[in-house]
Amino acid sequence: LSGLLIALAFGYLLGSIPFGLIITRLAGKGDIRKIGSGNIGTTNVLRTGSKKLAALTLLGDALKGTVAVLVAGLYGGTELALVAGLGAFLGHLFPVWLKFKGGKGVATYLGILLGLAWPIGLAFAAIWIAMAFVFRFSSLSALAASLVSPFLLLAIGDLNKAILFGLLSLMLWVKHHENIGRLLTGKESRIGQKSAPAA
Ligand code: G3P
Repeated sequence: LSGLLIALAFGYLLGSIPFGLIITRLAGKGDIRKIGSGNIGTTNVLRTGSKKLAALTLLGDALKGTVAVLVAGLYGGTELALVAGLGAFLGHLFPVWLKFKGGKGVATYLGILLGLAWPIGLAFAAIWIAMAFVFRFSSLSALAASLVSPFLLLAIGDLNKAILFGLLSLMLWVKHHENIGRLLTGKESRIGQKSAPAA
């Protein structure tokens, strides 16, 4: 049990590093939570006008998930890797440092998935890119990619990972409830659009 708790706490601590917030603040962009959607993720960092800062945010938020599962897996095997992945996702969504108000989980989901089942991680990225190419909504792309991924894991016969990512997808969808509302009412802003999404 203590191994599981250590893996969960280790993942949580890594996942709770808010790269978007740190990177934009270091770059002198102010508080990202007061820009655009107020989210601390890549899509909103792009609304500062800097592709470089957005790319760094994506890299940081994804890699913390990958590192969490790879390190835990190295020390404790697959079971601990899965628990560390759950911890990293919870850390990103609910970081204690930001009064538990974290991000929406897309980049970290991808990072964890790449670390645990990289072909499915590539499929997630491909679905995201294809959806973004056609519709130009970051949120819709993430909702679609996260909806499909647990079923892909099921299709390759990995029940444990399918259950884990089913849970992560559920949390991702709940965190996107405002985006879903805006998509349904035609008010969601498109990728790269600097304006704040309408309330
Ligand atoms: O990854 C978050 C994205 O799906 C939506 O971000 O800032 O448009 O709410 P945002």
